[in-house]
Amino acid sequence: MKEPLYAESFKIRGGDFEHGGEVATRIKSICKELGIRPDLIRRLSIANFEAEMNVIMYADEADLCFQVSTEDVRVVVADRGQGISDIELAMTPGWSTATAEMRARGFGAGLGLPNIRNSVDEFRVDSRPGAGTTLTYVVRIA
Ligand SMILES: Nc1ncnc2c1ncn2[C@@H]1O[C@H](COP(=O)(O)OP(=O)(O)OP(=O)(O)O)[C@@H](O)[C@H]1O
Ligand SMILES: [Mg+2]
Repeated sequence: MKEPLYAESFKIRGGDFEHGGEVATRIKSICKELGIRPDLIRRLSIANFEAEMNVIMYADEADLCFQVSTEDVRVVVADRGQGISDIELAMTPGWSTATAEMRARGFGAGLGLPNIRNSVDEFRVDSRPGAGTTLTYVVRIA
């Protein structure tokens, strides 16, 4: 039986570049306080940052639910927005629909989703085009 040690939800707002990355930073400091190993925090933070920026760039809003047990850190990012019609294509390194404005901000390499997949131990994407996207990922800590 997994003991829940910590759980918190965060709102992410579409278009809010000004606060981009703040949720990932907040979770990083919680993980430090919980004594999670730095290399695991680093992997989790990459995933959180990429997921957060994708909501800001491509969705209307999202709830990011962060849950820590003795065994793992689990994150569910459920957004409302346009969704992803072809998940396999979206997962292809280098594929991006980022606008010129997003690219000018340094985004749009098409590496966010592949980076999330490579940084975590479990990863899934569920999407309903026109409704939204849910990312679920897990980093094992024990
Ligand atoms: N939450 C989302 N809602 C709708 N579409 C998304 C979402 N996340 C990703 N996508 C789509 O998948 C594509 C690939 O995403 P990915 O994060 O890999 O790259 P990127 O955001 O375009 O560039 P980078 O992450 O390297 O800055 C995006 O360009 C976008 O079309
Ligand atoms: Mg991205």
